Amino acid sequence: MIIAIDGPAASGKGTLARRLADHFGLRHLDTGLTYRAVAASLLANGLPLGDEAVAIEVARHLDLAQMDKTVLAAHEIGEAASRVAVLGGLREELVNLQRRFAQTPPGAVLDGRDIGTVVCPDASVKLFVTASPEARARRRTEELLSKGQEANYASVLADLMRRDERDSQRTVAPMKQADDAVLLDTTEMDIETAFQAAVEIVSRAR
Ligand code: C5P
Repeated sequence: MIIAIDGPAASGKGTLARRLADHFGLRHLDTGLTYRAVAASLLANGLPLGDEAVAIEVARHLDLAQMDKTVLAAHEIGEAASRVAVLGGLREELVNLQRRFAQTPPGAVLDGRDIGTVVCPDASVKLFVTASPEARARRRTEELLSKGQEANYASVLADLMRRDERDSQRTVAPMKQADDAVLLDTTEMDIETAFQAAVEIVSRAR
């Protein structure tokens, strides 16, 4: 079984993906981390984010088990990831890696922007998780503050909207709800309610 979860930044899709994987006994891949890992490596080596040949080379040597979520969570890395994510050749390389992960038994939950449309168009279940920009910015601000990091609601909101705009307007694999995806709007839901709704959607589709 493959569960495809897409949606904008801070929609709750990552938490839902992880919990669904636990619940259904599947593996989980946060595909955003693959774009973040490539961007972080370019930044660390002082290389331009638009250098596709180097980005592809980095992607070829990516070790999913070595990706450190805590390090890659930094705000600047998310921003840089969305810049490298417009490179078609890089996407091809990462999509191959993501598909191999998805096809390894016993199945997997993948979350990202193009899972239901490009990476796993034949997924057993597709969810598009969203929430209002304000709700997402509020959650992201609280999350950053709880980790002792600085965060300002207005600038978090502006950053999220700029990233959503870039992710949904790019020509290659833009963020988009697949025609056969179920929309889950979590604006008025806490994570527990959203999780129960997601389990129900998946159970119905199985
Ligand atoms: O989900 P996350 O915020 O970690 O993703 C970082 C960036 O990576 C996104 O803003 C997007 O540009 C890119 N991305 C993508 N396709 C995916 C996952 C992430 O283009 N499947």
